[in-house]
Amino acid sequence: MTKAVCPGSFDPVTNGHLDIFTRAARSFDEVTVLVTGNPNKQSGLFSIDERMDLIREVTSHIPNITVDTWGGLLVDYTTAHNIGALVKGLRSSLDYDYELPMAQMNRRLSGVDTFFLMTDEKYGYISSSLCKEVAKYGGDLKGLVPDPVFEAMNQKFSGTT
Ligand code: PNS
Repeated sequence: MTKAVCPGSFDPVTNGHLDIFTRAARSFDEVTVLVTGNPNKQSGLFSIDERMDLIREVTSHIPNITVDTWGGLLVDYTTAHNIGALVKGLRSSLDYDYELPMAQMNRRLSGVDTFFLMTDEKYGYISSSLCKEVAKYGGDLKGLVPDPVFEAMNQKFSGTT
């Protein structure tokens, strides 16, 4: 049984993230999408529970994906659940520079390996923060985030949630 974790803030999940989850689920028997706090980011647009609900909704058709959250060190979660792999997407050399020290630190701390999937070219410029900025000023995010996320963002920025 091969198990992997896709960790991240996912505030909110984008079509780029969803593509990585889908591809990870083809290569590992069980994939956990793990919503984790990032101490370097300000408090989010969506609560952790809202982010998890949106991820559950958009991955409900993929039977070997589950969603969880964790507030501590990532490696404590992977060790406790006997998970040997982290899976992340790489969009550019900027991502590489950000991810390399985390991958090396996580491996040093626990032996967990990080597997990188190259982002599909359709999604190379998408990030949660850019999507939030575009949505805030009324820009069109169709095709960049899953439909339930599109609706949820419209509600947030129209002040109805
Ligand atoms: O989507 P993000 O915000 O870029 O994801 C970064 C994340 C959440 C994966 C990273 O901040 C993380 O692993 N946080 C958990 C705490 C931890 O283990 N920190 C040490 C990383 S080497």
